[in-house]
Amino acid sequence: MFLWTLAVGFVLILFIKRLHRDFHILAFFAPRIKTKDGSDVEKILPTVPGKTIFGNTFDTAGSDFVGTFKYIRDCAAQMKRSYALYVIGKTLVNVIDAEMAEMVFTNPKLITKGFVYDFLKPALGDGLLASSDRKWHARRKMLTPAFHFNILGQFQEVFQEESIKFVEKLNNMKMDVVVLDECIPKFTLNVICETALGVKLDECLNGDEYREKFCVFEECFNRRTNNPHLMIETIYKMFEEHKYLPALRIVHDFSSDIIKKKREIFAETLENGKEFHVEEDQVFSKKRYAMLDTLLRAEQEGLIDHEGICEEVDTFMFEGFDTTSMSLIFCLMNLSLHPEMQEQCYQEILEQTHNDLKGLDIAQLNGLKYLECFLKESMRLYTTVPAIMRETIEETHLPNGLILPPHTFITLHLFDLHRNPKHFKNPEVFDPNRFLPENSRDRHPYAFAPFSAGQRNCIGQKFAMLEMKTLLTHILKNFKILPLVDPKTFKFKSGIIIRPKNEVKVKFVKRQ
Ligand code: HEM
Repeated sequence: MFLWTLAVGFVLILFIKRLHRDFHILAFFAPRIKTKDGSDVEKILPTVPGKTIFGNTFDTAGSDFVGTFKYIRDCAAQMKRSYALYVIGKTLVNVIDAEMAEMVFTNPKLITKGFVYDFLKPALGDGLLASSDRKWHARRKMLTPAFHFNILGQFQEVFQEESIKFVEKLNNMKMDVVVLDECIPKFTLNVICETALGVKLDECLNGDEYREKFCVFEECFNRRTNNPHLMIETIYKMFEEHKYLPALRIVHDFSSDIIKKKREIFAETLENGKEFHVEEDQVFSKKRYAMLDTLLRAEQEGLIDHEGICEEVDTFMFEGFDTTSMSLIFCLMNLSLHPEMQEQCYQEILEQTHNDLKGLDIAQLNGLKYLECFLKESMRLYTTVPAIMRETIEETHLPNGLILPPHTFITLHLFDLHRNPKHFKNPEVFDPNRFLPENSRDRHPYAFAPFSAGQRNCIGQKFAMLEMKTLLTHILKNFKILPLVDPKTFKFKSGIIIRPKNEVKVKFVKRQ
């Protein structure tokens, strides 16, 4: 009997040892990362020591958005290279260096998004941002022409009109202290509404309600990512969904109604044998292309239906709005903090535009090289989309010898990638000259990726750069921007988009 017990005990120990080699048992059986040649994984990808015996499962327990963001930043500071975490049956790889970022961005099998994107689906459906596989390929192909150079020229007219309106409003304001978080989002939502849907939000009857409820998209995502219970679909549906449904309905109905109206106009125009143009009325702006037009054409060819059009339009609205707002807010704050650099941007604007912004066009904007470097440096230090996630759908071999098990979640921490001293000397110092061609030449091509990179990069990046440069040019030409905040005091809360908990204010002083 004793011998039997000993034998069973021995076999059990061997079994557990074997199991432990393949799984982090205490992290609820998270599959282990291996190497091709059996060498030590830790030498290539170290694991963050967990705070409890359960791997990293409870490392962020009780943390809010600020705490979770700090934890991730602390991990990067501690490990100084890309690292692994093991939590509740899940294997996580966090990438903070360009070499490993390249392996992920350029791997055609690593284009499936991680589980957190499912939390966006009640708001955005299975649109371009969240979808995968064939659906994503087909939609990306369908939508790419909507960002063609010629079309960007038409969008530029919208950027120009809205920027002029923005400066007029600033001129009419009695106060010179401006809370950027209040006024910039109005500008970017107007722009994306007109370019995506072809309507002027300020002229829509229910435009204000739409504007007010739009933040529900991110709110319901953030709530779920920060509460492990709500990650479970059934629990979310039972206890939380009802809180967001009314606002989601308002936002969805707004775009869906416009799509329906535009479809009617589209059909009438086709019946009359005319080229498709949108007529001027109180809702639809004049004959100008909108992204929706591309989708309506695709619908005619049977490539997409109403639901599909709605999810893509909502995705554009969501992706094109807050990302651009926050990047602009941080850039204006940085301009206020660096008066000499601000002056250099101003002088460049005078030179490139011959002191006349009436005909500001893409060629002139492309000539604003220093402003572009400034904007890039601002996006490096204040990366508005701080992290993005991919999932391995099968065992994945990386060029550095790692074998990632299926369903590993790879998070590319763009925020920490951009502050990695290996790629950026004195990373905390604000220096736009880093992006001058002569200073960028030797930098790893994947060290700077605020718009992501590879196949799933941001489809709207040229659009966003032009939009931001247009508004900045108009503001800089008309105002001096003075500082009112110190970013050293900022605490960041990170959802899809990073935001300081504090208000970001500046003072605008009219130039003579
Ligand atoms: C400064 C502004 C912007 C930033 C920093 C930004 C950043 C990004 C990033 C990092 C991604 C990758 C997301 C991921 O993999 O999870 C992305 C994707 C995307 N962005 Fe942007 N974006 C900006 C502006 C825009 C604009 C203006 C539009 C539309 C007009 C847009 C539309 C999209 C779409 C549709 C995707 C999904 C692309 C795909 O998966 O094929 N973005 N963006």
